Amino acid sequence: MFKEACTNLLLACIFLYFGFCLKEPLEALYGGGIIVNPVNHNIEGWKAFGQGKIRERISKTASNSFSQKVQVEQGKIYTLSASVQVSEGSEIVAVVFKFPTGENIRGGDVVAEHGCWTLLKGGIVANFTSLVEIFFESKNTLVEIWVDNVSLQPFTKKEWKSHQDKSIIEGRKSKVRLQVTQANKAPLTGAKVSIKQTKSDFPFGCCMNHNILTSTDYQNWFASRFRYTTFTNEMKWYSTEKIEGQENYTIADGMVKFSKENGISIRGHNVFWDDPKMQPGWVNSTISPEKLRTASAQRINSVVSRYRGQLIAWDVMNENLHFRFFEDKLGENASAAFYYTAQQLDPGTMMFMNEYNTMEYSGDEASSPANYRKKLEEILSYPGNANLTAGIGLQGHFGSGQPNLAYMRSVLDFLGATGYPIWITEVSVGVGPYQAQYLEEVLREGYSHPAVQGIIMFVGPITAGFNETTLVDKNFNNTSSGDVVDKLIAEWKTGTLEMTTDGQGFIDVSLFHGDYEVTAEDNDTNSSATLSFKVTKDEPQASVQVQIDT
Ligand SMILES: *[C@@H]1O[C@H](CO)[C@@H](O)[C@H](O)[C@H]1NC(C)=O
Ligand SMILES: *[C@@H]1O[C@H](CO)[C@@H](O)[C@H](O)[C@H]1NC(C)=O
Ligand SMILES: *[C@@H]1O[C@H](CO)[C@@H](O)[C@H](O)[C@H]1NC(C)=O
Ligand SMILES: *[C@@H]1O[C@H](CO)[C@@H](O)[C@H](O)[C@H]1NC(C)=O
Ligand SMILES: *[C@@H]1O[C@H](CO)[C@@H](O)[C@H](O)[C@H]1NC(C)=O
Ligand SMILES: *[C@@H]1O[C@H](CO)[C@@H](O)[C@H](O)[C@H]1NC(C)=O
Ligand SMILES: *[C@@H]1O[C@H](CO)[C@@H](O)[C@H](O)[C@H]1NC(C)=O
Ligand SMILES: *[C@@H]1O[C@H](CO)[C@@H](O)[C@H](O)[C@H]1NC(C)=O
Ligand SMILES: *[C@@H]1O[C@H](CO)[C@@H](O)[C@H](O)[C@H]1NC(C)=O
Ligand SMILES: *[C@@H]1O[C@H](CO)[C@@H](O)[C@H](O)[C@H]1NC(C)=O
Ligand SMILES: *[C@@H]1O[C@H](CO)[C@@H](O)[C@H](O)[C@H]1NC(C)=O
Repeated sequence: MFKEACTNLLLACIFLYFGFCLKEPLEALYGGGIIVNPVNHNIEGWKAFGQGKIRERISKTASNSFSQKVQVEQGKIYTLSASVQVSEGSEIVAVVFKFPTGENIRGGDVVAEHGCWTLLKGGIVANFTSLVEIFFESKNTLVEIWVDNVSLQPFTKKEWKSHQDKSIIEGRKSKVRLQVTQANKAPLTGAKVSIKQTKSDFPFGCCMNHNILTSTDYQNWFASRFRYTTFTNEMKWYSTEKIEGQENYTIADGMVKFSKENGISIRGHNVFWDDPKMQPGWVNSTISPEKLRTASAQRINSVVSRYRGQLIAWDVMNENLHFRFFEDKLGENASAAFYYTAQQLDPGTMMFMNEYNTMEYSGDEASSPANYRKKLEEILSYPGNANLTAGIGLQGHFGSGQPNLAYMRSVLDFLGATGYPIWITEVSVGVGPYQAQYLEEVLREGYSHPAVQGIIMFVGPITAGFNETTLVDKNFNNTSSGDVVDKLIAEWKTGTLEMTTDGQGFIDVSLFHGDYEVTAEDNDTNSSATLSFKVTKDEPQASVQVQIDT
């Protein structure tokens, strides 16, 4: 089904080879980088490769039976890619970086098959200078792992950022040629032009909680920055139906009202949560499947109908890779069936999966990218779900350590290859000395990736209880993380440009996607004209005519 999506969606085609099985391995990216591949370098390099054959079969007896040692430098980002296959069936194959300290960091994994090559991508950010050993492993020690065309390419953080900047220009901006003419169509030279962005197309938002209803400081702080939100807990089942049969939407409704009044779009969060601990008190392990079936049908009907047409997304079954409360009670297809019902009730809204650790932590197998895609395929293959407007929600709760940007990018590549839009739904970074810097790194990585169509942070003012990633202190002064967010909001919009037309009346600019207002003024006559226009990603090159009638 994903191959089909490729014919419709450019994005899927760009990343087509991620996660698909190919007859021939892809060429080693970057010529292999700092990895020694047998084809070019004979028997040096991979310990167990040898003989210089292009596709040597390797018998996997111990986890590090074929490995290579490379020197990594602190602060550099290393991207790894390799073509892998297994001797039979299909298995998860992981690449592991073994540090002399004994720390093993999983750099990425993929489901490899027999008979064709799958591209494994990943990497690490080296947080110390050291010799590391790279090896491939799978849980099933009986299968052989075949690996070809391995590449490990180092980047400085500066180089990494320049890739991001390039990708931002290509993906988030368009070239616009403006021409100012007079009534007789003659180009107007030296006209003063003011271009102002009135709306940004990219959803970069922030969660909010119930405190916003009672704090004008919180309201002002929020409304002056953000146009997209998610309510942290207020739409959840345990909030709206604390007591069985007594639904109370007072708070959620109040927050919807506040959002509407301030032009803020809302992601619905969430219809259900698969974690057994996150149910209303009366929905627990003792509930009978029959009762849960009735209660959950009532819940989904109630909340999805109530906000029909008013939300831009629903997290339908939160965290169904880590947990399976509903699957255990109602059967394996419980999640899939709820996606079907949600779409029936609110056909215009995008229905998301929403998971943690998929992109933030490579060591959590439950929510690995491969498992994520498997679950998504499962949901889409449920009767009636083929046309589901599905979305991929990646929470993005990072710890306090260096985020693994190489891994994050490879996960976005891999899931982006499905063609379904990715939103990063709950960005936060743990408390630590580099919190603000890491927050910036994560946000830049997300914003610069073409498959990412929105970012919501789970952060806020300390007075509203955001004690992990705090953006403003008790006086609503920025923390350093708050400075980062304000800086990025300003950087990711065009602001106001004042320019003068050239000899042919032209102005050439690169503008962020969004809504604009332009005013052109003829110096000589002081007459002017104003018009609105849109810059969209469908038009990488656009032209706008402003005619001044004198
Ligand atoms: C890498 O991929 C290319 C293209 O598929 C192939 O020709 C080459 O033999 C592969 N192996 C190595 C080790 O480069
Ligand atoms: C327009 O006016 C500015 C000063 O306001 C002047 O510097 C500029 O030369 C004028 N341009 C033309 C084309 O008259
Ligand atoms: C519903 O919730 C609101 C806000 O917490 C509360 O003020 C109100 O009393 C509740 N209504 C009922 C009927 O319990
Ligand atoms: C579990 O649900 C039952 C039935 O609603 C309720 O009586 C019981 O108190 C709940 N148990 C816990 C630990 O909340
Ligand atoms: C869902 O699963 C149940 C059993 O777990 C099965 O009886 C039912 O037919 C399945 N429904 C669909 C539409 O696959
Ligand atoms: C899905 O969309 C296709 C094409 O628009 C249509 O032919 C098909 O009937 C739809 N399937 C469902 C289950 O709605
Ligand atoms: C070092 O980097 C890896 C990822 O590259 C990360 O998992 C680990 O937490 C980092 N350690 C520290 C102390 O930052
Ligand atoms: C934030 O508050 C929660 C709940 O009060 C607490 O469990 C957590 O430890 C706090 N975190 C920090 C970093 O202070
Ligand atoms: C923070 O806010 C308070 C109250 O608005 C203000 O007096 C103070 O100067 C601000 N700046 C700093 C750095 O605390
Ligand atoms: C910090 O906070 C102030 C006041 O809320 C805001 O105007 C400013 O843009 C923020 N960011 C920076 C980088 O100073
Ligand atoms: C245009 O405006 C300037 C300043 O407002 C004024 O000095 C000038 O005389 C005006 N020119 C015409 C043609 O009205």
